[in-house]
Amino acid sequence: MTAPPEPGVGPQPTLITDPADLRAALRGQAVAFVPTMGALHEGHATLIREARSAVPGGRVVVSVFVNPLQFGPHEDLSRYPRDLEGDRRLAGAAGADLLFHPDVPTMYPDGFSTSVSVSGISEPLDGASRPGHFTGVATVVLKLLNLVRPDAAFFGEKDWQQLAVVRRMVRDLNLNVDVRGVPTVRETSGLALSSRNAYLSPEQRAQAAVLSRALQAVQAAYARGERRRAALRQAGLDVLNATPDLTLDYLSVVGSDMHEREIMDSDSMNRVLVAARMFGVRLIDNMPLAPPATLSQPTLSSPTVSPA
Ligand code: PAJ
Repeated sequence: MTAPPEPGVGPQPTLITDPADLRAALRGQAVAFVPTMGALHEGHATLIREARSAVPGGRVVVSVFVNPLQFGPHEDLSRYPRDLEGDRRLAGAAGADLLFHPDVPTMYPDGFSTSVSVSGISEPLDGASRPGHFTGVATVVLKLLNLVRPDAAFFGEKDWQQLAVVRRMVRDLNLNVDVRGVPTVRETSGLALSSRNAYLSPEQRAQAAVLSRALQAVQAAYARGERRRAALRQAGLDVLNATPDLTLDYLSVVGSDMHEREIMDSDSMNRVLVAARMFGVRLIDNMPLAPPATLSQPTLSSPTVSPA
């Protein structure tokens, strides 16, 4: 007999490990898909709720698969947080119908030898710091899309470069899926939610919020009319430099191609991205840089200056 759901908690999604069972469960249905590596938090829940509202009468599939292909040899694959029962509860409460949890041999059987690499946008930033990472991401996302065959797939802006890589792959390979980006969910301190925050103590999390304050400082400089790349970066560095226990990987202002170049107000994808190691944990975050007209004035004493 199955236990009734706890009060306030949605029904448990069906756990599926076999791709054939997944196909059978989804046949003929509208499908919205949220790929994850588990250790689900409120950021993932937001993606799942978006997926739910995209297919009211259809099926919402969440995959939980810690993908070895996207971890470097000295990264945290073996200690990556795992909590399948907690994931199932959170996914159910957010509206998931199915939790797809394949094992590694199912995804990568002996002799697996194909990879998907997206050149250009996956090369700078995290691509430079984590060689092979985006090839691992693109390969597993393509496999998951082929297994789930969703109408729409949901990705967080938290991983801005990953979202760009997925969009490019979907376009380049004519995949029939609508890729939707969802804004980053943050703690009240500003810290972006991340499964890797589980490695940090509450005090360390509070200190890690400095990353979002640095990004906001760059946003504020941009909103004041600053367009010189070095000056924009410096606004963020001024915030980070005062922080002990922080090793900066990059703080970059980029456009839609992910490369640093002249900033064009016409590029709606202008973004500031940061990656840093704090307390032994690699953290990333990013925020949009909108032209002044689309941002509210931060204060009356910092008037918008039109770019020359
Ligand atoms: P994971 O880190 O588990 O993230 C799954 C999805 O949740 C990603 O699209 C990510 O951008 C989104 N997400 C994470 N934190 C978020 C936050 N604070 N706000 C909004 N969305 C957030 O990203 C991966 O897994 C993997 O690379 C994957 C795409 C599953 C491929 O293995």
